[in-house]
Amino acid sequence: RITDIELRRVLDSRGNTTVEADVATTSGGFGRAAAPSGASTGEHEAIELDAADAIERAEEAALPLLESEVDAEDQRAVDAALHEADGTENFSEIGANAAVAISMAAAKAGADSNGVPLYRHLGGTFRGQDMPTPLGNVIGGGEHAAEATNIQEFLSAPVGAPSVEDAVLANAAVHDRIKELLQAEGVPTNKGDEGAWAPPIGDAKAFDIVDEATTAVSEELGFEIGFGLDMAAAELYEDGDYVYDDGVKSTAEQIEYVAEMVREYNLVYVEDPLDENAFEAWADLTDEVGSETMICGDDLYVTNVSRLQEGIDLGSSNSILIKPNQIGTLTDAVDAIELGAEHGIESVVSHRSGETEDTTIAHVAVGAAAPFIKTGTVGGERTAKLNELLRIEGQA
Ligand code: PGA
Ligand code: ZN
Repeated sequence: RITDIELRRVLDSRGNTTVEADVATTSGGFGRAAAPSGASTGEHEAIELDAADAIERAEEAALPLLESEVDAEDQRAVDAALHEADGTENFSEIGANAAVAISMAAAKAGADSNGVPLYRHLGGTFRGQDMPTPLGNVIGGGEHAAEATNIQEFLSAPVGAPSVEDAVLANAAVHDRIKELLQAEGVPTNKGDEGAWAPPIGDAKAFDIVDEATTAVSEELGFEIGFGLDMAAAELYEDGDYVYDDGVKSTAEQIEYVAEMVREYNLVYVEDPLDENAFEAWADLTDEVGSETMICGDDLYVTNVSRLQEGIDLGSSNSILIKPNQIGTLTDAVDAIELGAEHGIESVVSHRSGETEDTTIAHVAVGAAAPFIKTGTVGGERTAKLNELLRIEGQA
């Protein structure tokens, strides 16, 4: 049973305040977790409030329904109490940042009460040994860096790596190789919010550099390293067109452009290639390239099962991005992973551009048997998750 919940403000990687929760149980269990925060947030995401307001409101409305009332081991009961305390569809009363911090901290306290690692607590005995492949952001721009690429993220995808350890090292090696390539051309090596290089170059140049780096590291390490994109296209979308520095594309031209890049660079993964409300245009693109490439919905689905169901019905994508803070609880996030899995939709559990040292998503990815995780390549708040995956792999 949950005895006590403490909420506090802590800093995230951008220096903004976020909500951290401590949860304690009668059996001496303890869990601590902090909410991340997006910059290129989807318009249908659950609502993040100012951290101080979220704490005040959650203390007033949610803590009385949880303290001495609910078992930390019963995640569905914890998350149902959070929904009941909030009373809205999108956590606009207590804040998705307060909700997700409490939800994740309760899961950790439940795991601790049982003396098992969090991934085992979430996944049970029959799951929790399948390790996700990390996709590593190596060049980026968009909302994550000024004066850099229009495409938000170029992602190293070590799909042939025999282990998580090999994959993590491969992504770091690609990141490092890209620095050398940029320096060799005299391009400044700034970094964006997620630790990816944010050079002042155009998208076309970035494609070539990432292609060269992944090919070289792949040859060196002896397994396949492809690459992919998070286009975060909702951020490019204005009045029916996709607006780039070098011109404007209609929806049909955007689909053709993405399909062309998929073919030219053998892209293994494309996230948010189209606007966050364009379910039908997504289906057209998925029809065209979806058998060779993961087409992944982030802002399209916002980890929401109703929106995912719409995408399943229309054939909008073959993959979904899972961000617990987009929907506010672990239960909702795991439900989205499971609905996807029932329909052959692959899950990619993801960090946000604003992060803390919290490692919960590493356990969620393993516990829910998600095939991929997106959590950056370098930088302490990114390596916290990668290093946790290495520890989990060592335990298995
Ligand atoms: P965000 O970006 O955390 O700023 O929303 C990450 C993403 O779009 O995947
Ligand atoms: Zn995204």
